[in-house]
Amino acid sequence: MAAVQDMARLQRVLFELEREFLRTATTLICRVGEPELKYLLCQHVWESAGHARFLRERGREMAGFGAGEDVRPEIRRLFTEAILPESADTALAGFYGSIKPALLAAYQHYLSATHHLADWPSRKLVEEFIGDEERHAREIARFLPDTPAAREWRQHLDTIIAASGGLLSERTRIPLASDFAWVSDHRTYRHPATCNRGRYPTCSSVFGYDADEVPIVRPWLLDPATDARVIRIMVYVWLMMEMDAVDYLATVFFDTPAAPFDLHHDLARHLWDESRHSAFGFRQLPKLGVDLMTVEHSLDLYTILVQMPPHERYAMMTMEFEAGSFPTKAAVMDRIRELNDFEADTLLAFDRNDEQNHVRYGHRWLPEMMSLFGETRPVDEFVKATQSRFKEMAERFGGITPHGLPAERRLTGNKIKALVGLV
Ligand SMILES: [Fe+2]
Ligand SMILES: [Fe+2]
Repeated sequence: MAAVQDMARLQRVLFELEREFLRTATTLICRVGEPELKYLLCQHVWESAGHARFLRERGREMAGFGAGEDVRPEIRRLFTEAILPESADTALAGFYGSIKPALLAAYQHYLSATHHLADWPSRKLVEEFIGDEERHAREIARFLPDTPAAREWRQHLDTIIAASGGLLSERTRIPLASDFAWVSDHRTYRHPATCNRGRYPTCSSVFGYDADEVPIVRPWLLDPATDARVIRIMVYVWLMMEMDAVDYLATVFFDTPAAPFDLHHDLARHLWDESRHSAFGFRQLPKLGVDLMTVEHSLDLYTILVQMPPHERYAMMTMEFEAGSFPTKAAVMDRIRELNDFEADTLLAFDRNDEQNHVRYGHRWLPEMMSLFGETRPVDEFVKATQSRFKEMAERFGGITPHGLPAERRLTGNKIKALVGLV
């Protein structure tokens, strides 16, 4: 059985690498500013979650994969080091210029080391993953910096990987020099107090009541007298703002190192869904004549939630914001149907379907997340207490992001009316 055990041991390492990738690469998401880069990272994280799950499934068919899901300390140490640069661009360069290429080399090694017929089921998976990794490298290339700091950081991570002879120990080891300095020896990672939106203007909230101040005028959403074309633009702004969910949900992975893999798997799916919802708005608004540089991004939910522990963040998200959004969204969907805009109907229908899954994830995982933090109250009681804590936190950490644009230059309810030709 030695041959099976050897290959199962490699698959186990690959599983841990992918697992740890999603726990740590998610910290890049709130730190990089470009929306298309955030979306791409969410997609790669979701694909990594898929790789990890298939590896675990196949691995468990083989003797020697091991029963638990823990990540060994050397792997955890490498990935924990990788998130430490203060510049998100430098950290990105490390993940994609050092760790991902080493992961691709590891998969290639697996393919060359295993028997093509005996281990056919693993081989098919690994071939697929190699294709994914090559595509990830192509997709991310335009976002990667080639600065001296980025090169130096890649070198730093390459040195760590070389010390174990590659991620699967497939090469000769090159021991670390005696003066090698781990950044993690003197720095720990903390999520930023506010998230990055790059060149786009920001604000605290896009919801309100004054049509000369905000783009989403709450009473208009449900008022039968509102023109459906206005509602369509408002709902695309709303969808685009789900970028806040992308940014704060991304913080939960790193903060739950003891979570079962399936929890992170579903969180990765949730994250990718939110990034797609945000992209619905980000990509459709320009087609309707909206200049994205006039749309402020709301940061309140991030700035408030990042001050709360992860299980409270997740409780607010699934039990409050998502569970509470259905009635308004249903009314909006009815209005949009008047426009015979098949694409808008489709996007909203998928958004709704995804959101129903998210609430289901919440029911499944919130109790587990609570137990990770020693929370023993019944779920209902905990959710109620968290709602009032959120209100308190909102008083301190909400409303702190000033308008990036003066009212005359930003997209508002009345500007949307003008855009569709109503004024
Ligand atoms: Fe969403
Ligand atoms: Fe959602």
